[in-house]
Amino acid sequence: MSHSSRSGQAARTDIDLALFGALGDLAQRKLFPALFQLDREGLLDPSTRLLGLARQELDLDGFKGRVEKALKTHVKAEELDRQALARFLSRLDYRQLDFTQPEGYTVIRDWRQAGQERPMVVYLSVAARIYGDICRHLEASGSLDDQSRVVVEKPIGHDLASSAEVNDAIGAVFPESRIYRIDHYLGKETVQNLIALRFANPLFGTQWNQNHISHVEITVAEQVGIEGRWGYFDDAGQLRDMVQNHLLQLVCLIAMDPPANLDADAIRDEKVKVLKALKPFTDDMLGRDVVRGQYTAGTIGGKSVPGYLEEEGANTESHTESFVAMKTGVENWRWAGVPFYLRTGKRMPEKLSQIIIHFRQQPHYIFDPDQRGLAANKLVIRLQPEEGIALEVLTKDSGLDKGMRLRRGPLHLDFNSAFPKSRIPDAYERLLLEVMKGQQYLFVRRDEVEHAWQWCDNLIAAWADRDEPPRRYPAGSWGPVASIAMITQDGRSWYEDY
Ligand code: BG6
Repeated sequence: MSHSSRSGQAARTDIDLALFGALGDLAQRKLFPALFQLDREGLLDPSTRLLGLARQELDLDGFKGRVEKALKTHVKAEELDRQALARFLSRLDYRQLDFTQPEGYTVIRDWRQAGQERPMVVYLSVAARIYGDICRHLEASGSLDDQSRVVVEKPIGHDLASSAEVNDAIGAVFPESRIYRIDHYLGKETVQNLIALRFANPLFGTQWNQNHISHVEITVAEQVGIEGRWGYFDDAGQLRDMVQNHLLQLVCLIAMDPPANLDADAIRDEKVKVLKALKPFTDDMLGRDVVRGQYTAGTIGGKSVPGYLEEEGANTESHTESFVAMKTGVENWRWAGVPFYLRTGKRMPEKLSQIIIHFRQQPHYIFDPDQRGLAANKLVIRLQPEEGIALEVLTKDSGLDKGMRLRRGPLHLDFNSAFPKSRIPDAYERLLLEVMKGQQYLFVRRDEVEHAWQWCDNLIAAWADRDEPPRRYPAGSWGPVASIAMITQDGRSWYEDY
């Protein structure tokens, strides 16, 4: 892969895209809006065509109507100009297809006839259990060639064994170099910036280890609850839904060693080393270093919301966790003894995802002793709501009467105000563009998925042995009290300058 293409030049985006699950929630909420934005910005090749596939019988006008409605709901009115909309809709095609029946797949082969010179990207926005069937039927129907790529969504499996089955089934048809496993956190602007920040700035490069960093904190909090996804979520829980993928990917990007270059495999090799070095959980750590929670009824933003067990379709006996906090670590030279505190939950007071790098205190302190608590730099990397990076530093408070009083203040890089003209693209826009260019560095390789599962499986097995119900926390709070105790027992606290 060339570096020039990574910097935005020489990209080839003349593909055809076949989207399985085109009437589903993800396609309507994220994928069509992202494709529309790419088109609006002139990043879709004029020849690119988009084929929607779903089980429902619908004519082309009906399909276009559904996509237009989705765009009107999910794209800002000022970004939805008429000309761009008409151009986008003219790229669309639709075929009704029962994904499990091989006979129907000739519709894709026939649709391909007109675009044979372009690579086809197949996007599977459907349940992972049918990924294998779809890949086989695509191949058997003669719809694929040696340029075709496949994009798959998480969750890939439910544990290591089932993820291996899914990966085997996809791998029987597509080589790893043409499989794009999405973790949409990797497409977020700030997550990308983490790579730039770490590897382009010697200031951080030299400080990024256990000599200078005391601990790392990651919070991924959501206000939403289960949003009608009880069937899926209750089977998964927050560990499988969020930690196995998004949070562990963040840990990888923070903890990995510098890759030799920006090629996909160079980056992914380094991430795999982190996953292999993750501290495993032992039984005696469960009570102390891991907290599982489940929300009860509460109030968020002044509105009452039901508890997890009262959600529509709920199994009222469920022990599934909607919150997890843990203290873990990366057992290697760079990170020896540095705790990584992770927490993520549904129905928290606000939607907030942030990483805090806590630097160590000065070895010898010479200022006012009662200001000692202030004395540590922090790097705050915010993924949402407002993407940005701030470095908390200590300076002298100004004024003749202040002497050498210290003041804590952030050096801000708030992307919205630093780059006011540029719209921050949604993660899916970036990811779709990378698939079209045939670049894999923002996608998850099979061994990453499997090492992440291995680590989670070990924890899930330990939980199952204990069979303890999760701790309760009221919706609208920051999780069970035990998750606060977990970090205070180390003389620390969760960062609270939201
Ligand atoms: C998805 C999870 O992968 O990520 C959802 O399945 C979760 O449960 C979502 O709500 C969060 O994504 P974001 O980008 O809104 O933080």
